[in-house]
Amino acid sequence: MQIAMSTRIQLRILFVCLGNICRSPAAEVICRAMLQKVGMAGQVMVDSCGTASYHVGSKPDARMLSALERAGFRYDGHRARQLRKEDRTRFDLIVPQDSENMRDVQQLLHGTSARVVPMRAWFPAGCSLREVPDPYYGGAADFDGVVQLLADSMPQLVKELRAELSARDGNSTV
Ligand code: 4NP
Repeated sequence: MQIAMSTRIQLRILFVCLGNICRSPAAEVICRAMLQKVGMAGQVMVDSCGTASYHVGSKPDARMLSALERAGFRYDGHRARQLRKEDRTRFDLIVPQDSENMRDVQQLLHGTSARVVPMRAWFPAGCSLREVPDPYYGGAADFDGVVQLLADSMPQLVKELRAELSARDGNSTV
C-alpha cells in the first residue's frame, strides 16, 4: 500500500500532557519518527504542549531524553509551551495523555474544531493501563515504560492517519 508523496500538510496533531517535558514531547518525537518512516511526515504536522505553565521554555526532562535515546529516538530543539486558546482551531486531532489532561483540554478548548481523543485509544490490545502514566516522580524504568507504551501505540495511530489521508485525498492506495 502506498500513498502519493506530498509535502502539503493535511493533518495537524497536538499531543498534550501536564508539563510538556515528559510524555507529550515523547509522543511528538515518536509519532514524527514513525511518520517519517512511512513517508507521511510531509503531510502531517505534529506538535505538543502542556496544560500547565510550570516548565514553559524548558527542554524536555533529561530523564525522558535518555529514555528516548535508549529506544533510538532523539529530540533536539523542543521547548515546552502551554496549551493556548488559539489551539482550538489549529489542529485536527488533539491527544491528551491522561484523564486529567483530557478534562483540562475539554475545559480550556471548549468547542474546539479538533477531535479530542485520549492516547489510550491506541494502546495495544491487552494493555491494562487506562492512561499514559506520569513518570515525573518515578525512575528510569517509568520513563522507559512510557516510551515503550507510546512506541507500541503509535503504529495504530499512524495507520488511522494514513486511512484518513487516503479518504481526504480520495486517493485509492494500492
Ligand atoms: P509531563 O510530566 O506532564 O509528562 O510533562 C510532568 C512534568 C512536570 C510535572 C508533572 C508532570 N510537575 O509537577 O512539574
